[in-house]
Amino acid sequence: MDMKETLQRLSEQARKQIEAAADPEKLNEARITFLGKKGELTAILKGMKNVSPEDRPKVGQMVNEARSEIESMLEKSRTELEKKIREEKLKTEVIDVTLPARKSLIGHRHPNTIALEEVERIFIGMGYEVVEGPEVEYADYNFTKLNIPEDHPARDEQDTFFINNEILLRSQTSPVQARTMEQGKLPIRMIAPGRVFRSDEVDATHSPSFHQIEGLVIDKHITFADLKGTLQEFAVELFGPETRTKFRPHHFPFTEPSAEMDVSCFKCGGKGCRFCKGSGWIEILGCGMVHPNVLSMCGIDPEQYTGFAFGVGLERIALLKYEIDDMRLLYENDTRFLKQF
Ligand code: DAH
Repeated sequence: MDMKETLQRLSEQARKQIEAAADPEKLNEARITFLGKKGELTAILKGMKNVSPEDRPKVGQMVNEARSEIESMLEKSRTELEKKIREEKLKTEVIDVTLPARKSLIGHRHPNTIALEEVERIFIGMGYEVVEGPEVEYADYNFTKLNIPEDHPARDEQDTFFINNEILLRSQTSPVQARTMEQGKLPIRMIAPGRVFRSDEVDATHSPSFHQIEGLVIDKHITFADLKGTLQEFAVELFGPETRTKFRPHHFPFTEPSAEMDVSCFKCGGKGCRFCKGSGWIEILGCGMVHPNVLSMCGIDPEQYTGFAFGVGLERIALLKYEIDDMRLLYENDTRFLKQF
């Protein structure tokens, strides 16, 4: 059979296979079959050495013609296929502009955030500034400058996560007191909310990471009466006008005298219920008059200035206010829980 016929037959086969190719993969298969390295046309080219030298140019030309014919068939088919695919895609992806718009989901403020904003509102209303301090803190600020020297047992009570010997994850927001006093601007009226860390096991009332709000007032002639008046006002604003407060003596290294403040149970009004465990009172914060040692260490003359400080647990307020009985719910971020508040 002569070469011309062979090539025509090959072209014809190629045309059939190319026309039958319904998708780009099939088309590619056809290309490989006829033009690929192990394809039919390449096989013929390899056989050129058996063609007599005088016939070679002619045969070569015919092979080249057959190749470009097959190539143009492939190209044509490829363009048509792509066009078809695009048209089908356009048909299936039509946008129905008459459909109602899908509502985007809007998030919800976390109970902690709601409680914090409430506390901030109350203190800003009394002329306080809101300041922040670092979560990764020097042991010097977290302990030493707060009158908790090295080897003081209070360091163990607030066992936290150390980065190295001098740097730790703050176990309380109280270091912001020292940082603010050191800046030297007086008088001071500030609250400092933020995250704190302790190596506690997780349970219904403990978490290795939680939030506190620190408070600090420094001025001339500040007395324990200012402390009581301020925190009484805070309690009333937060828990309602009927709220009474009670101060129990306590010990904190950085205040002297120190106290814990209880509020009358806002559930039973003080008669005693399940909520206040029958006592009628709920413990809410620690407070006291800033220790003269702390003032001196932070560059303030304790002969001229006095002040008070307090620390509140933010989660504690959120749990009480919304009657949530397990702290873990605050961190799970289940929207079915969160959207109730
Ligand atoms: N930092 C204390 C704690 O984490 C809370 C506290 C108590 C802060 C008394 C104060 C304060 O500023 O005066 O237990």
